[in-house]
Amino acid sequence: MRLKDKVIIITGSTSGIGKAIAIRAVAEGGKVLIHGIEKDDGQKVVEQLGKNATLCIADLSDPTTPQKIVDSAISAFGKIDAVVNNAAVIERNSLFQLTPEAFTKTITVNLQSALFLIKTAFPFLKKSEGCVLNIGSINAYSGESSLLAYSIGKAGLQTMTRNLANAHGTDKVRFNLINPGWILTDREYVDQVKKGLPEGWPEKLDKDNIPFGSMSTPEQLAAACIYWIGDESRPFTGSVVELEQFSIIGRNPEK
Ligand SMILES: NC(=O)c1ccc[n+]([C@@H]2O[C@H](COP(=O)([O-])OP(=O)(O)OC[C@H]3O[C@@H](n4cnc5c(N)ncnc54)[C@H](O)[C@@H]3O)[C@@H](O)[C@H]2O)c1
Repeated sequence: MRLKDKVIIITGSTSGIGKAIAIRAVAEGGKVLIHGIEKDDGQKVVEQLGKNATLCIADLSDPTTPQKIVDSAISAFGKIDAVVNNAAVIERNSLFQLTPEAFTKTITVNLQSALFLIKTAFPFLKKSEGCVLNIGSINAYSGESSLLAYSIGKAGLQTMTRNLANAHGTDKVRFNLINPGWILTDREYVDQVKKGLPEGWPEKLDKDNIPFGSMSTPEQLAAACIYWIGDESRPFTGSVVELEQFSIIGRNPEK
């Protein structure tokens, strides 16, 4: 029980990686706020997790959403020990397709809302000597050419994590970030088919993409998140951790 009685807000936990973190967090004794924009999916997750979960459906492009999320966690469980900023809009655009509206949407949901959720939850995190775990992406270091706004937002999340870690160590609130590599979520499967990969593509990838022979799963990523959410990782803060099947920085596959 590595998260016994910890109250954890997990944005974007109606599906994919966020849902896997929520399931694992409850298995470790935690209580979770499930959040996202798909009401039916969210209700299913909460039904599965029972009394240890509460639901908040709210769009992060609305500036009132951080307060709604915090109010909902406090009214259900009375405290907040951790915030996992995992929600993201994953829209494809490159320089000449990107509109100001699309850029604003991605940055608002993926970066700005995370910052203001932290600000709103901060008094509770200070009281509990809690932590924030931000879910970035390896795209933060440069990224796919068709993920321009997304990559910029993830880079911002990384700098925000380190800045806040430096600023709030003496408050005993910790800020860490995981940059996942490629993870096989339902959304990722559908997105890649839309982008042109054939049905069943995860079975047909080459060893450059999956040296271990199969794609990494949301459950494997969730297992790693538990360490950073719980007290086992105290006092470490300001960490940026890449989780991929190969090294990210400086990789130079054989030509
Ligand atoms: N799957 C991957 O390969 C991969 C790789 C690197 C990073 N990530 C990151 O992991 C996180 C989860 O990705 P996933 O693959 O599980 O995707 P997903 O689409 O399954 O989950 C996204 C979640 O974000 C929520 N969300 C989307 N737009 C929102 C909005 N406007 N307001 C509120 N909530 C909103 C959705 O409701 C959903 O719960 C994201 O931050 C993503 O950038 C994923």
